[in-house]
Amino acid sequence: MIMSDRVTVSIIKADVGSVCGHSRPHPKMMESCREVLRDGLRAGTVNDFYVTRVGDDINLFMTHNRGENSKDVHGLAWEAFKAATKLAKEMKMYAAGQDILKDAFSGNVRGMGPGSAEMEFKERGAEPLIFFMADKTEPSAYSMPLSRVFMDPYTTTGLVIDPRAHVGFKFEIVDVIDSKKIVMSAPEESYDILSLLGDTTRYAIKRIWSKHDDIGIGAVISTDKLNLTAGKYVGKDDPVAIVRCQSGLPAVGEVLQPFMFPQLVAGWMRGSHYGAWFPCSVDNSDPTFFDGPPRVCALGMMISNGKFQGCEDPVHDVGVHRPIDFFAGSEWDGARAKAMKASIYMRQHGPFMPGILGPEEMEYTTRPAVLCKLKDRMENID
Ligand code: 13P
Ligand code: 13P
Ligand code: MG
Ligand code: MG
Repeated sequence: MIMSDRVTVSIIKADVGSVCGHSRPHPKMMESCREVLRDGLRAGTVNDFYVTRVGDDINLFMTHNRGENSKDVHGLAWEAFKAATKLAKEMKMYAAGQDILKDAFSGNVRGMGPGSAEMEFKERGAEPLIFFMADKTEPSAYSMPLSRVFMDPYTTTGLVIDPRAHVGFKFEIVDVIDSKKIVMSAPEESYDILSLLGDTTRYAIKRIWSKHDDIGIGAVISTDKLNLTAGKYVGKDDPVAIVRCQSGLPAVGEVLQPFMFPQLVAGWMRGSHYGAWFPCSVDNSDPTFFDGPPRVCALGMMISNGKFQGCEDPVHDVGVHRPIDFFAGSEWDGARAKAMKASIYMRQHGPFMPGILGPEEMEYTTRPAVLCKLKDRMENID
């Protein structure tokens, strides 16, 4: 195959089991993923990797030159998740192998359970990326913050004052019910874009590109399971997103700012509740209150000559990537407190909407069985 001079950044993620409910993968599972990726590095399948997690989801960050949907890269991730699943089963982890829906790999993780977000670009002089990872929610959770980042001048002043951001952005939006997609253009179609994205049960952003000639991709979100299951529900995705920043794209700070608002997102507890998503560090991403509240983490790294460049501790771990963990600091305590207040309020609805999701979105339901049982007692109203 022809290796591209463009770099591809891939996140492939899966929940293959966790300690004590849907909480945190065992460290041995994370290490077994690292071992498989180290082999992939030696074999030249990937240029670099970083393994992390949010809640119970293992996230594999990889760089390579094989383009999106590479069979080799997806196959490597699949092997890593299979190895972690084997350990999870041996250790009797909770929901071991949860996102491994198929037995045999068939060329791409799409449709097989794991989620993926990938972007390919020609490396600029500096390439800052933010990796968002969410647990207990769905891809459309990113619609509100990312439409603010790429469309709202009160969030991203760069849309007004940076000539390259000023030309605006294109959005690929997916309709998960009819399995359709459309590319729309902001700012001209902003209101039409929001008219779709406001329905978070049906529409989600897949990709955002700069409309400036030299820049290319700005953001990508994992929407795999939604596409797979259009019309039929098999669980929340716990989606990831990659956002490319600065120099004609929104600045890092502009990208992070909307997460100060802990919006209500779908997918908490049994995939069936609304809760306020809680910005936090990776270490603080264990779901601790009613299997949540839904978490979102933001990790910052550079892409440098096709590899990751984070920070490192020169004394202890030279060569080890250490992303900036943006939501770790006390600046985000206010948002976390608000998220807890809103989530506790939502819990007080018990099994009533809008504490629970609408009927077509519930991951668990007894409704058909209850209606079946009551069939003969149901009478017409005169
Ligand atoms: P510096 O002047 O620190 O490079 O910051 C520029 C910028 O865009 C900050 O958002
Ligand atoms: P996960 O999707 O994170 O596995 O959570 C499932 C669940 O139902 C938690 O209550
Ligand atoms: Mg789980
Ligand atoms: Mg999860």
